[in-house]
Amino acid sequence: MKVTTILLAAGQGTRMKSSLPKVLHPVAGQPMVFHALKAAAGVSGEKPALVVGHGAEAVRERVGDQARYILQERQLGTGHAVMQAETLLAGKTDLLVVAYADMPLLRGETLRRLVETQQANPGPLSLLTVIAGDPRGFGRILRRPDGTVAAIIEEAQATAEQRAISELNVGAYCFSAAWLWEALSRLAVSPKGEYYLTDTVALAVAAGLPVQAILLDDALEAIGVNTRIHLAEADQAMRARINQSHMLAGVTLVDPRAAYIDAGVTIGPDTVIWPNTYLHGGTAIGRGCELGPDTLVRDSKVGDNCRVLKSVLEGAWVEERVEIGPFARLRKGAHLCAGVHMGNFGEVKESTLGPGVKMGHFSYIGDATIGAETNIGAGAITCNFDGKQKHATTIGTDVFIGSDTMLVAPVQVGDRSRTGAGAVVNKDIPPDTLAVGVPARAIRKLDQGDKHE
Ligand code: UD1
Ligand code: CA
Repeated sequence: MKVTTILLAAGQGTRMKSSLPKVLHPVAGQPMVFHALKAAAGVSGEKPALVVGHGAEAVRERVGDQARYILQERQLGTGHAVMQAETLLAGKTDLLVVAYADMPLLRGETLRRLVETQQANPGPLSLLTVIAGDPRGFGRILRRPDGTVAAIIEEAQATAEQRAISELNVGAYCFSAAWLWEALSRLAVSPKGEYYLTDTVALAVAAGLPVQAILLDDALEAIGVNTRIHLAEADQAMRARINQSHMLAGVTLVDPRAAYIDAGVTIGPDTVIWPNTYLHGGTAIGRGCELGPDTLVRDSKVGDNCRVLKSVLEGAWVEERVEIGPFARLRKGAHLCAGVHMGNFGEVKESTLGPGVKMGHFSYIGDATIGAETNIGAGAITCNFDGKQKHATTIGTDVFIGSDTMLVAPVQVGDRSRTGAGAVVNKDIPPDTLAVGVPARAIRKLDQGDKHE
């Protein structure tokens, strides 16, 4: 049976008090709607149909070709939103899964269970329910003695007795498509002037057709985001879920409540994450690493057996056995090869530090290439910006850059050369040469006897 998903995301999200469309607010680092799209992918290979309205342009731009778009120009209710998809989908699918895009915790597996329930249901629809102490404005579920659903009562229409019902409508349904299109055309407008998708239940029941409901095992899946309080709840629940999956895969989180790991981040086994560590965006961490405390890594790749303490890495590529920090900053295009040591108060941007490079203290390296085993003395700096343009610095292998050397780019330092403390290098230094002073001058050739350890 062919299954297609429709995700509703046209509502304004007024209670978020935001200029950003609700479904673009991030949960565990990704727009809420991305989580809904991922769940949808768990149930159908067909590209989901996303109903957009408020902030449609912004949503389209962010979601791109992950969805097909249906515009609901006026938000006349959840039933009306689904009606807009008829032109695109009528006759194209057997089953329709409809879910609200503001439920980021809902799992693909759960939607799959919902589809299976509907496949076994002689009636036209099945839906998800949850039992919760706090009804949060959700529709109440009335069951019949045989367990099928008798009705969904929206809170505004519920009697005091009905309000006390703790089984709630989650907002995810699986319909027989042909039945749904016909039923939607018969929906009556609610006292609030809206067409409720939930009223399709009454239409099925009136026709004597069974409506099935399955109860969520994990009530957190039903968190729907209407306010920023719900957003924080959803974010926390999603992060807890992510952290558990990393722990089960062999990652140690010293304090799981203080590790902030975005959806999509990968971490190898035997890595230890100390508290107050943030792993954001498209970050990949190898095995056997130790990160934190107090570390932020965004859109970076870190190889196996690295150590990063109290540091910030953004857009960086760090190979294996690298030690960073405390108090180091890697910016976009920083590439630290295997075995690099980068100590405290260093900054690296758009530069490659070759294997085994040591940069212990107080250095800025920008737009530079540094060969293997070179030592960057304390306080050495690439002066890469002349006020107008950025220039490159190239340092060879096995070089010794003395403390407080200023490398005035564009400039090159040859293999095995050395600079004296405080040198201001504004001309290229050939290989095997000692240069000192301001401006730096070559004072002699170096030989094997000068080799630093
Ligand atoms: C809805 C359900 C309620 C359920 C609750 C769970 C209805 C009538 N009620 O109520 O039974 O317990 O969700 O969270 O369906 N949307 C549109 N176009 C519209 C209206 C809404 O796309 O015209 C979208 C919204 O963007 C949102 C979703 O549909 O993603 C749900 O709408 P919302 O107004 O939040 O419904 P609830 O009142 O929460
Ligand atoms: Ca809602």
